[in-house]
Amino acid sequence: MSDVARIDQGVRRNAGPAEKTSGLAAFATRFLKAPGVVGSPFPSSASMVHRLLRNLPWQEIETFVEFGPGTGAFTRYALQHLRPDARLIALDTEKPFIDLLRASIVDPRLVALEGSALDVADIVRAAGASRIDCVLSGLPFSTLSETDRALIVRRSAAMMSKTGMFLAYQVRRAIEGPLSESFARIERHYHLWNMPPCHLYRAMGPRSPADGLGG
Ligand SMILES: C[S@@+](CC[C@H](N)C(=O)[O-])C[C@H]1O[C@@H](n2cnc3c(N)ncnc32)[C@H](O)[C@@H]1O
Repeated sequence: MSDVARIDQGVRRNAGPAEKTSGLAAFATRFLKAPGVVGSPFPSSASMVHRLLRNLPWQEIETFVEFGPGTGAFTRYALQHLRPDARLIALDTEKPFIDLLRASIVDPRLVALEGSALDVADIVRAAGASRIDCVLSGLPFSTLSETDRALIVRRSAAMMSKTGMFLAYQVRRAIEGPLSESFARIERHYHLWNMPPCHLYRAMGPRSPADGLGG
């Protein structure tokens, strides 16, 4: 079996109904234990995942970083679209989510790590990447301190090439200040078909990109 076929089979095999049910239960359990960290009692809806990720330039993405993968709603979609030689580094502070991802997704491109988005630069470099092409953030920014919000976005942008982008889905709009400080262009849409409905962000043109060419 080719690498691509094996990857595809691994990703699809793990997105079945049993997986979804155990994912829902795991999500609700973590939310009850740490509501401010998890931010929502439900994983993201398939329609929101599709809307935020459907138009990405997948062929140009080598390193994709996900903050707060939870039970993997976005992770699985991204793995179905990323190149066979790409890498998806997923960081979550909740160890049970990382254990669940490692146990349920069979894909050599996935690097699932327990850690904070605040340490993005060190973690990404330790994983062997020098640059980020796309960050997808599921962090509940409104529960973070202002300092942490700014640091997470600034540190991410500083590791991007000039074509890098930062995507986020948020119930509130606390992320907008940090995004406009670090990126030249921001698109925002509202997605109703999620529990709760969310603002969807795509920020482009990092102001101080890693390759120093400007955005
Ligand atoms: C709203 S949930 C999103 C879960 C999943 N991506 C989804 O869409 O269903 C937020 C996630 O961010 C994680 N998280 C919170 N603070 C974090 C931090 N500083 N670094 C990394 N992950 C964090 C939580 O553990 C949780 O998995």
